[in-house]
Amino acid sequence: MACSPDLGATTSTESAASGWLPLSGHTALVAGTGPGIGAGIALALARAGAAVACADVRPAHAEHCARDVVDAGAAAVAIAADLADEAGVEEALARAQSALGVVDVLINGVAVMDERSVLAMDYAGYLRQLRVILGSAFLLTRAVARQLVAVGRPGAIVHLASTAGHQGQADNIGYCTAKAGLLNFARSAAAELGPHGIRVNTLTPTTTDPRPGQARAARWGVAAGGCGLSPRQRTNERRLPLGRLPTPDDYGAAAVYLVSDAAAVVSGSDLRVDAGALASYWAWSAGDRRPEGGAPVADATSTTGGEHGTAG
Ligand SMILES: NC(=O)c1ccc[n+]([C@@H]2O[C@H](COP(=O)([O-])OP(=O)(O)OC[C@H]3O[C@@H](n4cnc5c(N)ncnc54)[C@H](O)[C@@H]3O)[C@@H](O)[C@H]2O)c1
Repeated sequence: MACSPDLGATTSTESAASGWLPLSGHTALVAGTGPGIGAGIALALARAGAAVACADVRPAHAEHCARDVVDAGAAAVAIAADLADEAGVEEALARAQSALGVVDVLINGVAVMDERSVLAMDYAGYLRQLRVILGSAFLLTRAVARQLVAVGRPGAIVHLASTAGHQGQADNIGYCTAKAGLLNFARSAAAELGPHGIRVNTLTPTTTDPRPGQARAARWGVAAGGCGLSPRQRTNERRLPLGRLPTPDDYGAAAVYLVSDAAAVVSGSDLRVDAGALASYWAWSAGDRRPEGGAPVADATSTTGGEHGTAG
């Protein structure tokens, strides 16, 4: 018998033409809404139609981000809370729900940097970093998932990992350990929560173009942590296969995809938005072929034979 597919569904082109937005009717909690990546993702979700609860331990980050979301035309609430604290998370979720409805999208970017070596780091600092990164991931996932299971609704959760969670980095032991843990935390939660219709994924950023965040920080009147690209960021940019650092908008587009119906059967995955960073074999960087600030060098004599020739 001939297959007779149901062709009644709206296509994406028809949807765009009708003004349909992929996240209309959804409520997102964005945890960690600093002027860089967190705010960039919150705005992308808002432009895609979601209502957004902006939560951060720094009240200014929550408030300014929520204001930007409202300016983008979406509903928002600002929540100042310590999201590595059990009571803080429960209260934040209750506030988000009472202001905007059941939270069915969670983006978690809560993190602290504390770049220290395994030789120099004190135990309290190490545990603090694990608690903030992995503790917040656990508490937020549990709270959002419990609420969704209680009301019988599906949902989507995304944790922000890092290329430093995929590869070892010297002098950053707490961060690298926690971000690596986050990858398998998300896979395990995905395995458990899938039967409830809750998808869990990670999004992996890498060294990020700081300029959009710096501009937003200036507008917000909060600390920006630098001006323009640092020497290390310039070096990193040169070494990337695509030759440019990702921006918060790049991550925003990826986050919208991951929490939308377009990713309806994507769970337990990691979406690397890293300009090709992790694709490169360490001994053969794309930057070796690119002059400073320039395009990749066309070199017909360079083949994978040369690449393997340097392998140990
Ligand atoms: N910027 C990069 O180059 C880069 C690269 C790879 C991964 N990432 C990851 O992306 C995410 C966002 O990065 P970013 O550079 O915008 O970081 P950021 O430090 O600007 O943002 C993290 C936010 O989390 C908040 N926060 C910290 N502890 C908290 C707590 N206990 N409760 C609630 N909020 C808390 C901070 O106040 C801050 O606003 C982080 O998870 C980071 O690890 C960033």
